[in-house]
Amino acid sequence: MLIRHNYTKTIPSNEITPESVYKERRELMKLAASAVALAATPLFGALNYEREKTSRGLKPTSFDQITTYNNFYEYSTDKESPARLAKNLKTRPWTMSIGGEVQKKVTLDIDQLLKLIPAQERIYRFRCVEGWSMVVPWVGIPLASVLKHVGLTSKSKFVEFQTLFDPKQFPAQRESFGSISFPYREGLRIDEAMNPLTLLAVGLYGKELLPQNGAPIRLVVPWKYGFKSIKSIVSITLRETPSHTTWNDMAPKEYGFFANVNPTVDHPRWSQARERPLGSFFKQDTLMFNGYEKEVAHMYKGVNLRKFF
Ligand code: MTE
Repeated sequence: MLIRHNYTKTIPSNEITPESVYKERRELMKLAASAVALAATPLFGALNYEREKTSRGLKPTSFDQITTYNNFYEYSTDKESPARLAKNLKTRPWTMSIGGEVQKKVTLDIDQLLKLIPAQERIYRFRCVEGWSMVVPWVGIPLASVLKHVGLTSKSKFVEFQTLFDPKQFPAQRESFGSISFPYREGLRIDEAMNPLTLLAVGLYGKELLPQNGAPIRLVVPWKYGFKSIKSIVSITLRETPSHTTWNDMAPKEYGFFANVNPTVDHPRWSQARERPLGSFFKQDTLMFNGYEKEVAHMYKGVNLRKFF
């Protein structure tokens, strides 16, 4: 993400979302949150999940594109290598510890976790800070359900996530002067973590996540830039003080802690007004909070989004 990109020479887009589609998506979001719109559907492959009834007017990006154009710095800084290099990531058995300011500290086996909390499909927009975007039919469990399971305390104000640190499996973790410092870390404020949109994804397109997309479990926060959606999580820590986050620690002027998608606040080196959907030649307008304004804007009421970007 530190590499210079020129996204400013755009071809005007004819791809503005029609109001009817927007309204339909809003309605579906309400339903998805309450899980009313979901019908149980056993799926091909290992995943069982409750399937969303419609796509909310969003057309998912192809499986091929989602799984071959990746940001996964533990493997490489280029987009094509993770799919090739990640093939042998050992994703079972896999445990995720939840600790810090919680009522009961636990280490959960991911398959046990999926028995405890049923997975659901969520078709979300995904916008990378670099200026590309996609629509992904994720399968996952709400982070809020997991946090309720361990019980919060009055001191649970922030959540910190960490990716596996295993230099034997992740080549870039063996480099002494690599691109970023590892383990990759990300964080959310507790209200953001408890928002019904926030997902721990375990699959996409009805199949288990492929390693390049962050198998076996990764965060998805659809109203924030993609770097918040940390992959291959091994620990979740509830904290009273703000969490460390890889990109914000490294380049705070470029990557904010909040990292909310905002077409009116440019990155210091490029515009954030428009984005290029994977597989499309044309750019389209970027939506405030990536189109999830109704569901999340209340959390930032009175916040200066230019200062707290
Ligand atoms: N998580 C880890 N552990 N390492 C990474 O390099 N890259 C982030 C995020 N999560 C990254 C990560 C960035 S910059 C983006 S845009 C998304 O993952 C990309 O997710 P995708 O490859 O599934 O599209």
